[in-house]
Amino acid sequence: MLLQVNDVTRTFGGVKALDGVCLSIAKGEVHGLIGPNGAGKTTLINVLSGVMPATSGEVVLDGSPVQTLPAYKLAARGLARTFQNIRLFPAMTCLENVIAGQYLVAPRPFFPRFFCLPMAWRQEKEHRSQAMDCLARVGLASRADFPAGALSYGERRRLEIARALASRPRLLLLDEPVAGMRQKGVQQVGGLIRSLAAEGMTILLIEHNMSFVMELCATITVLNFGRTLTTGNPDAVSRHPEVIEAYLGASEDHA
Ligand SMILES: Nc1ncnc2c1ncn2[C@@H]1O[C@H](COP(=O)(O)OP(=O)(O)OP(=O)(O)O)[C@@H](O)[C@H]1O
Ligand SMILES: [Mg+2]
Repeated sequence: MLLQVNDVTRTFGGVKALDGVCLSIAKGEVHGLIGPNGAGKTTLINVLSGVMPATSGEVVLDGSPVQTLPAYKLAARGLARTFQNIRLFPAMTCLENVIAGQYLVAPRPFFPRFFCLPMAWRQEKEHRSQAMDCLARVGLASRADFPAGALSYGERRRLEIARALASRPRLLLLDEPVAGMRQKGVQQVGGLIRSLAAEGMTILLIEHNMSFVMELCATITVLNFGRTLTTGNPDAVSRHPEVIEAYLGASEDHA
């Protein structure tokens, strides 16, 4: 297993956002994480990516416990994420936003840059070319010099993914990557996830778009009220009585 989440709990005052969550993701798997609003999906990604600590429990990445590591150390171990509420630098260009994602794993040493050594120029050129590859991967190469704030909503979602790819992750955590996107963008991101998985990347995919999750994921974990309701293949999960009840209950609440 590349990632194991053992009995993880996270509380906010009296709210138990995660209540003994268990999850295992095999190397190379595209694993779905679904559940009604407020189920704890984003909180789990926040804990896994070191944005906030777990209150208790263990997270094991490639055999080592990592639950106490900060975000930058997790990035160095091959973990990257996107944000449900897009977090880009709007005044910076798309290319600069992606380059910002590289800094987590490819720090620029001070002295070669300060003295303008050829090594610094070579590194800079290499980093820019890698960042351009990431933009091309999400179909945004032609937008490289546009400010991120000028992009359409769907393009900004894809730029988030490009920035995450810039750190060359082994494990990519995607928090609702196609939320609110048009069908064309959804298909584009679906194709990208397939091709990343075909290259061996492991992906944890949070989405409310059920057909998207069912098509892409061999295994799906369902969270409800911070607990793991079930894990299984798309067919078994979609027939699970408690999953149906959780979603019906949620839609009745909205009505
Ligand atoms: N920083 C925080 N402070 C206080 N409560 C929080 C915080 N973050 C999350 N929560 C609470 O934890 C619970 C789980 O929230 P979370 O955002 O993880 O759900 P989610 O499954 O991602 O929902 P959605 O599908 O709407 O994105 C909710 O009750 C939420 O209000
Ligand atoms: Mg969320």
